[in-house]
Amino acid sequence: MFALDDDRVLRRYREGGDVAHEVAIMRKLETLGYPVPHVFKAAGPDLEMQRLHGPTMLQAMMSDDLGMRQGARILADLHTRLHQTPFVHLDLHPENVIMTATGPVVIDWRNAQKGEPDLDLAMTAVILAQAAVSFIPAAEQFLAAFLACTPGDPLRLLPQALARRAADPAMSGEETSLLTEAESLILLLAPR
Ligand SMILES: Nc1ncnc2c1ncn2[C@@H]1O[C@H](COP(=O)(O)OP(=O)(O)OP(=O)(O)O)[C@@H](O)[C@H]1O
Ligand SMILES: [Mg+2]
Repeated sequence: MFALDDDRVLRRYREGGDVAHEVAIMRKLETLGYPVPHVFKAAGPDLEMQRLHGPTMLQAMMSDDLGMRQGARILADLHTRLHQTPFVHLDLHPENVIMTATGPVVIDWRNAQKGEPDLDLAMTAVILAQAAVSFIPAAEQFLAAFLACTPGDPLRLLPQALARRAADPAMSGEETSLLTEAESLILLLAPR
């Protein structure tokens, strides 16, 4: 990420690749009124977009500016609003939400696609559970709060979400080995 000026940032994929797919989705979502950064320019691995000002949702919760239950409700609401469109984000967690003065805005659309809302909810649960069983105790509390107010059914496509996560090349062997424990935690905390 490079700050170009006060209004623009440039994101460049180090591995190369093409941002065209995520940019098409971001632009479509913007026309639908969903909170995404405005895209100025996209070319190959480069994405020039609106620079957002504010802490991530994770930072806001860690500094106690935002309560966990409040944060969980905002995240659940971002899912609900997104799922009124054909798209899913598949990486919608508190580090990919920027709390701006005009409201929460969702970043990091590289995994976005058309898909089932329940898969998006399950992916969020898996990501939070992995954090909870590895090194972030507060993540368990946040996961419980998210599961208590989530729309849809985060358990229905949990097996698909776990498989997707296990196949993610960005994950270390150690992280992958925690997936079974993460699954158990979700099943334990999910209200029935
Ligand atoms: N439009 C933006 N305006 C301001 N800051 C941004 C913007 N997009 C991203 N950032 C900052 O850059 C950080 C990383 O961005 P992003 O989540 O898109 O990539 P990433 O998390 O590095 O991707 P990955 O986790 O897949 O490697 C964010 O946490 C945020 O602080
Ligand atoms: Mg990110």
